[in-house]
Amino acid sequence: MKQILLIGIGAGDPEQITVQAINALNRARVFFLLDKGYADDDLLRLRTDICQRYIRNDEYRLVQVRDPQREDDPQGYARGIEHWHEQRAVLFERLIADELQEGEVGAFLVWGDPALYDSTIRILDQVLESGREVFEYQVIPGITSVQALVARHRIPLNRIGEPIRITTGRRLADMARDEPENVVVMLDAHCTFERFVDQGLDIYWGAYLGTPDEMVLSGRLDESLCAQIKRLRHEARSRKGWIMDTYLLRKPL
Ligand SMILES: C[S@@+](CC[C@H](N)C(=O)[O-])C[C@H]1O[C@@H](n2cnc3c(N)ncnc32)[C@H](O)[C@@H]1O
Repeated sequence: MKQILLIGIGAGDPEQITVQAINALNRARVFFLLDKGYADDDLLRLRTDICQRYIRNDEYRLVQVRDPQREDDPQGYARGIEHWHEQRAVLFERLIADELQEGEVGAFLVWGDPALYDSTIRILDQVLESGREVFEYQVIPGITSVQALVARHRIPLNRIGEPIRITTGRRLADMARDEPENVVVMLDAHCTFERFVDQGLDIYWGAYLGTPDEMVLSGRLDESLCAQIKRLRHEARSRKGWIMDTYLLRKPL
């Protein structure tokens, strides 16, 4: 039977990878790399660097393909995501059918951990459900950007007995201004934290965590800190063409 490994590779620091992930890298023969189509794709480079650094044989091959682009759908956000997943399922099915021989092991290198805001598990389930390709798959956990963020700031993710909410910028925008108690925000392209200025919250922010471009800032979320994060974010994004940042908003005790 064909086998697929979904390997969590951490969120940017090539040393934040587990022994289990390194062993999995060494079991796979075919690596599927999804290319976002940027001229200078740091994320793709990090994946190939990880292969070179940790794989102790030269019997593997890389299959690089263009990732379908997510388009805004006139029928709404959820429909846009659904359509994108359908396109990715078609692509994954083709890769497994054409690029992997019976008995071979293939791998997808997943940013951070495959269970957190990543669609690879859902898409492989979709491909299996279609019944046209038969394979087994295994998930190898990775260090998430959330863990990288709190480690970098030297804070626990939750305080004693306190719940923690992990959400998106999109969802944060719908929260009342006094609602966040302890919230990690990901996938926020619009600096939604600005809405919560002068609400007595602390922010712990990090961009490009674990990479040479890493930036972190923290403190009481007031006009000045908000402007500073926005400026850094804007400058870095213009320079590099992309940004990934994550932050924690916390009401002090
Ligand atoms: C599609 S999600 C993938 C999350 C990933 N599976 C994980 O475990 O962290 C992408 C979001 O993760 C966060 N992220 C990923 N890598 C990051 C990094 N190195 N620094 C800061 N945020 C990061 C950002 O919020 C980004 O918008």
